[in-house]
Amino acid sequence: MSTTASIDRLGDHVGETVTLKGWLYNSRSSGKIAFLVVRDGTGSCQCVLERSDQTESFFDTARRLPQESSLTVTGEVREEPRAVGGYEIKVTDLSVVHASEEYPITLKPHGTDFLFKHRHLWFRSKRQWHLLRIRATVVDQIRRFFNDNGFVLIDTPIFAPAAGEGAQTLFKVDYFGDPIYLAQTGQLYLEAACMAHGKVYCFGPTFRAEKSKTRRHLTEFWMVEPEIAYASLDDVIAVAEDFICSLVDRLLADHKDNLVELGRDVDQLATIKKPFDRITYTEAADLLRGPKPIELLDNDMATKTARVAEIDKLIPELEAATSTGKQWQRDKAAAGIIEVREERGELVEQMANIPKHKELAATFEWGSDLGGSDETIISRLHEKPVFVTHYPKPVKAFYMREDRSDERVVENFDLLAPQGVGEIIGGSAREEDLDRLIARMKQENLPQKDYEWYLDLRRYGSVPHGGFGLGVERTVAWLCGVKHIRETIPFPRMMGKVYP
Ligand code: 4AD
Repeated sequence: MSTTASIDRLGDHVGETVTLKGWLYNSRSSGKIAFLVVRDGTGSCQCVLERSDQTESFFDTARRLPQESSLTVTGEVREEPRAVGGYEIKVTDLSVVHASEEYPITLKPHGTDFLFKHRHLWFRSKRQWHLLRIRATVVDQIRRFFNDNGFVLIDTPIFAPAAGEGAQTLFKVDYFGDPIYLAQTGQLYLEAACMAHGKVYCFGPTFRAEKSKTRRHLTEFWMVEPEIAYASLDDVIAVAEDFICSLVDRLLADHKDNLVELGRDVDQLATIKKPFDRITYTEAADLLRGPKPIELLDNDMATKTARVAEIDKLIPELEAATSTGKQWQRDKAAAGIIEVREERGELVEQMANIPKHKELAATFEWGSDLGGSDETIISRLHEKPVFVTHYPKPVKAFYMREDRSDERVVENFDLLAPQGVGEIIGGSAREEDLDRLIARMKQENLPQKDYEWYLDLRRYGSVPHGGFGLGVERTVAWLCGVKHIRETIPFPRMMGKVYP
């Protein structure tokens, strides 16, 4: 009798006979021996089959089994430092649960569009597996941090009768004949809740009709939002700093291997410690207009131009290699062409944008919002996350507290993650004064009647308070060193992308 074991626990079973239940990830074989890499959801393991009397009946089936067939294998667990995970199984029995059809995602590179159309299968690939495991831990750590620090979870509604952030990104839904919107934020409801519980948070899906196809925008993303009564801007910033450090520490403790597999520089991640950098919007504007962005972008242009030239030399070589050599060598060359063509396409697009980004930075005017390229520049000019505070009032949401010492700006912050990732948190102190808030809503043309309940919070025991929102996908992208946030959510929703 063998026991069923999971691959991540094989170390507990060395010398024993166990059964694995999984899928065939990859295989190679000769006439006498076959190596099957089996994955079971917890990891992958090399399973070795030798043609012997015992395995004769299934040896040929096993070695020809298509990729992603489901199977169970039984055999002895052995330590094998050269194998993935450090253990292997010497197979004595194998049964096929389902012989797969020809699997569309081979182990060779595929174009991004193809992979996203096959997202339901792409999940099984290694990189996606690492990413979604890390995401699950980030979500767990978010809950842990707030639960352990005295915050009460308040589930805020998804159907919202009025805008929380900006009317231009609302998704309208028909609610029994009346218009209603998918929540852009739970914040306004949290402000009510923090007056009852002191420290609260909400965590859930958030919707923005962003007509934007950038690497930073989804139409459905997950956001955690804490809100704290009797808090100043500095208090809120201190919580954000501790919170980010707790996410980094948890990943370094539990997911170093996954991060390394993803190519993330973990030493760099380990430098993320308090205090983070802090600049005002006005200082950020000066930085943009100064010499550093030009230097940075000129360097980019030179590096990217050199890489395109390298690719242009490489493509004909790869093309030639597709018609010579063994089949696997031809396949490898063909896959290589797809990969470098995709890289070249991205580089050319980025290079075309560099002059525009230089111009935007150099001519940045105090009063405008920081654009995506401006954020990228500021964040690349910092090694650590950087808080940018005190933005001009008109570019920020109506609820942000006016700075009493300079009423042109609000007491807010965006936290930009380093290495060009850009904003992962937006937060502020909230306007607690009824008259100032009403005046601000008038400026923004917000219908006061829709917000009467919110204004009540300023009528009955109003106190200074504040909070922030952190986007899970942008945060996971930064922590994992992934360029595009669409890979950090199981089924991304973007403009023009809702399948599967
Ligand atoms: O800066 P935002 O819009 O802030 C709010 O919604 C506030 N109500 C939060 C608060 O103070 N309680 O969004 C916060 C974060 C951003 O920093 C970003 O990480 C993420 O939410 N985010 C998006 N992520 C993916 N796709 C989008 N379209 C996003 N828009 C915002």
